[in-house]
Amino acid sequence: MAILHNKYRRFTAARAAALAGLLALAACLGYGQAVNSCLDCHSAQPGRLEVTPEKFSQDIHAQKGLTCVSCHGGDDSNYDPDQAMSRKAGWKGKIDRKQIPQLCGSCHSNPAYMRTYNPSLRTDQLDQYHTSMHGKRLAAGDTKVAVCTDCHSVHDLRAPSDLRSTVNPVNVAQTCSRCHSDAAYMKQYGIPTDQFAQYSTSVHHDAMVVRGDLSAPTCTTCHGNHGAAPPGVDKVQNVCANCHAFQAQMYGKSSHFKAFQDKGLPGCVVCHSNHGIHMPSDAMLGTGPSGVCMKCHTPGDHCDRARADILSNLTQLDGAIKQADQSLRLAESSGMEVSEARLSQDQAVDSLTKARVTIHTFQPALVNEDIQAGMKIASANQKAGQDAMVERNHRRIGLGICLIAIGLMLVGLWLYIKKLES
Ligand code: HEC
Ligand code: HEC
Ligand code: HEC
Ligand code: HEC
Ligand code: HEC
Ligand code: HEC
Ligand code: HEC
Ligand code: HEC
Ligand code: HEC
Repeated sequence: MAILHNKYRRFTAARAAALAGLLALAACLGYGQAVNSCLDCHSAQPGRLEVTPEKFSQDIHAQKGLTCVSCHGGDDSNYDPDQAMSRKAGWKGKIDRKQIPQLCGSCHSNPAYMRTYNPSLRTDQLDQYHTSMHGKRLAAGDTKVAVCTDCHSVHDLRAPSDLRSTVNPVNVAQTCSRCHSDAAYMKQYGIPTDQFAQYSTSVHHDAMVVRGDLSAPTCTTCHGNHGAAPPGVDKVQNVCANCHAFQAQMYGKSSHFKAFQDKGLPGCVVCHSNHGIHMPSDAMLGTGPSGVCMKCHTPGDHCDRARADILSNLTQLDGAIKQADQSLRLAESSGMEVSEARLSQDQAVDSLTKARVTIHTFQPALVNEDIQAGMKIASANQKAGQDAMVERNHRRIGLGICLIAIGLMLVGLWLYIKKLES
């Protein structure tokens, strides 16, 4: 306190009197505008002390009519810094990182207060925050973890729905990566720092950022905005079921579900990973580098045989669909009408897609049901293409005979004319 006072005394002595007078004049000239000595003075402060009207007008709190005093306390009608920033006027002084959640929570955890502004806004952010790794470590004195302002920013804090907000779904991954991709900053924790790099290559990033599909997850969809996991999800690893319900349902009934749970293995993540989830392919069932089954199963055991069985069935249907496609394309390019078969090809592809979902039962007999349904259609379509070609050949022979007949007739006619002439 003494140090602070000395500083102010130096500051107030000569310059502050002049500055205060000037600012007061400026404020008076502003006529009806509300006086805000904090903003007026701090917009002219250097470096980290600078808060400009341009910046603060972007802040949701400013837009809702709150002022510097709402968070910092003090007297914003007074241009004397000693008075404006006096503890007597409620000024809180420098806000420590450790105090930030409490400060934000003083309003955001007060349902009666928040209701007067926006009844639909949740008021559990601080409670949730306490359950997260960030909150727990902060409580234990670690100030390197994320506090409210690290994710939300401060003084130009925007509502999440604003596209420029640091917590808008398309910007969240960047916000987290500021710390989580910084290997030096994270060194002491010994956890990976490749989450953002991995996520950037994933199907989810591709769907959300490249194709603008907001139903795909970003960091906070899986990890929760404030808590340790999103609402209704017991463990982060189980969040996949929120969106991939069919796969989760089948996996939930498989013997893997129980076996993985007993061994403490993270479900879907075992085969698909968590951050770098790539487009699955049949190769995942193979024995090559993309294969996932043989990490646990032994060649020749009954699980390996089940794997090989499923793979060969999938390959068979995939091949049959491609053959039928080829056969239909040939017929179409020969001008034959096969549109009905062409339409039903979609059903064969659907069966293959369904089989790739049913894989998650890990029971060859169940997968085979989908395969056989698809095989029936694909075989019929291949035959439709072939039949169309046979039909075309018949027509060609018919056409040939016709042409020969016409030719012969023309020759006959010519001979007849010749004979008449002579
Ligand atoms: C006439 C200028 C002036 C006015 C008016 C003023 N301040 Fe300050 N404020 C300063 C200066 C200069 C400092 C830096 C003091 C220091 O470094 O010791 C400061 C420091 C601060 C700090 C602490 C920053 C930190 O982390 O060390 C906060 C917070 C703050 N002011 C908020 C306010 C609020 C809120 C008001 C209005 C109620 C206000 N100020 C009014 C000039 C002013
Ligand atoms: C919604 C609450 C809120 C409002 C409104 C607000 N501040 Fe702050 N301010 C904070 C918090 C929290 C911090 C600490 C940020 C941190 O350390 O990350 C802070 C930090 C500061 C600092 C110190 C910056 C630093 O880096 O140490 C100054 C100066 C300051 N505020 C001035 C103002 C002024 C002037 C206004 C009004 C124009 C204002 N604040 C409005 C919450 C607020
Ligand atoms: C003095 C009370 C108060 C304090 C302190 C406060 N806020 Fe707010 N905050 C509000 C009010 C009021 C709103 C406007 C709610 C509305 O109308 O939607 C708001 C809005 C928000 C919103 C936008 C919500 C939305 O979706 O509309 C976010 C995010 C937010 N505050 C975060 C913070 C953070 C982070 C802090 C701490 C740095 C903080 N607030 C401190 C009162 C406060
Ligand atoms: C690790 C990052 C992170 C931290 C730390 C964090 N938030 Fe948030 N917050 C988010 C994200 C992300 C969203 C919004 C997402 C959305 O709705 O798309 C959000 C949304 C909000 C909202 C809008 C309403 C809601 O709940 O969706 C408020 C208010 C809010 N946060 C306040 C706080 C407060 C208060 C703290 C500190 C106790 C805090 N946040 C800490 C990331 C964070
Ligand atoms: C200000 C830096 C910072 C920001 C920003 C930040 N974090 Fe963290 N986070 C940390 C630190 C430090 C830890 C503690 C690491 C530990 O204990 O393993 C941590 C821990 C975590 C953990 C727990 C890791 C574990 O050990 O199991 C998760 C999950 C996490 N953060 C997710 C996020 C997400 C998601 C975001 C963005 C919305 C985010 N963090 C933003 C610094 C940050
Ligand atoms: C599709 C869901 C999902 C998304 C998106 C996601 N995570 Fe994760 N994350 C997980 C799962 C699952 C784990 C592992 C949890 C376990 O094994 O207990 C994890 C683990 C972590 C950990 C702990 C350390 C580690 O790597 O194992 C951190 C930190 C983390 N994630 C941060 C992030 C960040 C930052 C982002 C965004 C760039 C992100 N996550 C995106 C699901 C996700
Ligand atoms: C918030 C919803 C959501 C969550 C949570 C989620 N995903 Fe996804 N996932 C999607 C969306 C959306 C797509 C893109 C679908 C598309 O390409 O049309 C997708 C695509 C995929 C794909 C590529 C296959 C395909 O059909 O495109 C796989 C594999 C996948 N997710 C696995 C997972 C796993 C494993 C988890 C949990 C760690 C998970 N997902 C969590 C929504 C989610
Ligand atoms: C034991 C390994 C394994 C586990 C566990 C697993 N999967 Fe799969 N998953 C696969 C394989 C193999 C494929 C590839 C199928 C193909 O293309 O041949 C696949 C394909 C997928 C696909 C894309 C194909 C589709 O359309 O269905 C999604 C989405 C998916 N899995 C999600 C999940 C989810 C969600 C979970 C957890 C509930 C999960 N997986 C658990 C092995 C697994
Ligand atoms: C993380 C290790 C692990 C991976 C990866 C894995 N499994 Fe398993 N699998 C197990 C365990 C453990 C069991 C249960 C004990 C047993 O029957 O051997 C099991 C059981 C099975 C069963 C027996 C199911 C039953 O109901 O009888 C089949 C079939 C099977 N796995 C196939 C696969 C296929 C196919 C893959 C690849 C897509 C795969 N597994 C990947 C560990 C794994």
